[in-house]
Amino acid sequence: MQIISQELVAQILSEIEKTGSSAKSILEKKFKKMGIDDPKIRGLVHAYVFEILKWRKKIDFIINSVLKGSKIEDLDLLLANILRVGVYEMKLKGVNPALATDSAVRLVKKHYGLRRAKFANAVLRFAEEFDEEKALTKLKEKDRIEYLSVKFSHPHWYVEYTIDLLGYENAIRLMISNNKPQRYYVRVNQLKTDIDKLKEYLEENNVKVAMTPIPDVLKVLEYEKPITRLEWYKLGYFVIQDLASAYVAHVLEPERGDRILDLAAAPGSKTFHVAHLMENTGEIVAVDYSLERLKRMREKMKILGIRNVKLIHADGMKFKDKKEFDKIILDPPCSSSGTYRQFPEVKWLFDEKKIKGVIKVQRAMLRNAYRNLRKEGEITYSTCSIRVGENEENIKYALSLGFELVDYPFDWGEKGFTDIGDKVFRTFTHINDCNSFFIAKLKKP
Ligand SMILES: C[S@@+](CC[C@H](N)C(=O)[O-])C[C@H]1O[C@@H](n2cnc3c(N)ncnc32)[C@H](O)[C@@H]1O
Repeated sequence: MQIISQELVAQILSEIEKTGSSAKSILEKKFKKMGIDDPKIRGLVHAYVFEILKWRKKIDFIINSVLKGSKIEDLDLLLANILRVGVYEMKLKGVNPALATDSAVRLVKKHYGLRRAKFANAVLRFAEEFDEEKALTKLKEKDRIEYLSVKFSHPHWYVEYTIDLLGYENAIRLMISNNKPQRYYVRVNQLKTDIDKLKEYLEENNVKVAMTPIPDVLKVLEYEKPITRLEWYKLGYFVIQDLASAYVAHVLEPERGDRILDLAAAPGSKTFHVAHLMENTGEIVAVDYSLERLKRMREKMKILGIRNVKLIHADGMKFKDKKEFDKIILDPPCSSSGTYRQFPEVKWLFDEKKIKGVIKVQRAMLRNAYRNLRKEGEITYSTCSIRVGENEENIKYALSLGFELVDYPFDWGEKGFTDIGDKVFRTFTHINDCNSFFIAKLKKP
């Protein structure tokens, strides 16, 4: 890869870390700003960014093992990320180490001068000689969890947690599948076409697809050019939506004319799906805390031909409408620990303290959902988290508020945990080939 793209990758990685924004949105912003439209360059930069985010723990393990007196976390962000690019290239991508080192050192010289360039050169030379397999074997004897955490490049807490939840074998399978390339699913916009026509169109455009357990969703098996470049995508005939996420609207069972509230709606996948199922009848009130994300939702709604959604910039923990709602979608902010294959950057964003914080928000939103729901009204609660605390435990909390758990006939997916496990829905990336996900349906008696 040319030095310009390595610089771009390091800058994008720094921006993601600094802002906590998603890799995809930072990539898009950067491409737009620099006028990069060539799919080849975009693809290459995208792949570098995603692979480095995915393997960050392993890359940092190598760098920290050769750094003397400091840690990668202490370095200037851009410098740290240039080193990460260099180590990724030589250790994981199979680039000639001399070439990887040379381009990284040139970049460091450009941004930080000769002294730092010498430092980068020394770090990368040591990294080249470093025997990570030997170091990992040593680590395995000392701390088995940390060893797995480095080997599969997952957070320490995640390794511990998934072994506890799923057992050793399944935890390993899950981490291996999290590190595979993302799987795409497309959902038809029934306001504009139907699933058969969409299948035909995709196949005509060299996209190989397969049916899924969800009638309006197709699994993408192979494609030649990115599906977002297809005319029908640009015209809103279909959306890209993860399989489990596209089950939520079906579980909600919206009916024509319903009044529906979505308490954490952006970027809008589930709101749009419900709007499509209701064929623009009734009313959907879509609340979100992020104005930026609501603005993007408005743009997307135009493309998708949606006319029954009212967007509201408000706090989903407090928003109260004058009239109660027939149904509510509650897909609150969560640890996103089920989305590592899709968003590898989130691996490094959450720790126990932050997870406790999101659980508080989720519970406040459940309380608020109860206030906004009419008697006999129903709510779907969903998260893309693997944690029982954000899922089954929150449902038990909801039961303590007065909700009843609906015994919904989920016709695919896995069971959940605890004594309510049989009545809730889960998926796992290694079993269901989509995000690890949770759904439960509740009713206000
Ligand atoms: C998991 S995402 C929702 C995804 C969305 N349901 C979909 O299917 O596209 C969580 C959303 O909650 C929003 N959020 C976070 N805190 C919030 C709050 N206090 N009130 C409303 N929305 C909030 C975030 O901006 C984010 O868009």
